[in-house]
Amino acid sequence: MNPSCNLFLVGPTGAGKTSIGRQLAARYAMPFLDLDQEIERLTGVSVGTIFDIEGENGFRRREHAILDECSRRHGVLLASGAGVVLDPANRRHLAERGYVVWLQATVPLQLQRLAHDTTRPLLADADRHRKLEAMAIARTALYEGIADLIIPPGGEHEGVVAASERCIA
Ligand code: S3P
Repeated sequence: MNPSCNLFLVGPTGAGKTSIGRQLAARYAMPFLDLDQEIERLTGVSVGTIFDIEGENGFRRREHAILDECSRRHGVLLASGAGVVLDPANRRHLAERGYVVWLQATVPLQLQRLAHDTTRPLLADADRHRKLEAMAIARTALYEGIADLIIPPGGEHEGVVAASERCIA
């Protein structure tokens, strides 16, 4: 693995960014960072608490600052939050500072994987099906605009190999 290559995983909630990211990082002995977990580590509170206290705008400011810091590093594998692409500056940082892998997911797959999840504030009270569809409509072109590699739903394992091979110098 090229030691200076950053790998950035983007994609919707429930696509498997964190679990695939951990596998990839272990396989190539790369430091693994999960953006939401970094935010929680640095603030000492959960993403849900940040949304409760500071609203989505406060969370997005923190997300932007931590992404900027993490993406300046070299040789890291970073799993981002699904909404990171909403900010044009974040999209620029991801596109310019690493190899961007877009993990896709269908809404039924997301609903299945998130059935017992209570940690996503944007999915808390909503009609999840409708909300996930709306997010897909709003965000798909944004993922597409920065993706170097697209992994279709369920293609994670081949994707892991493909992503790592593309990153080899
Ligand atoms: C968000 C997705 C979450 C987290 C936050 C906002 C979003 O990350 O960053 O709740 O905007 O869809 P996941 O991709 O892990 O769900």
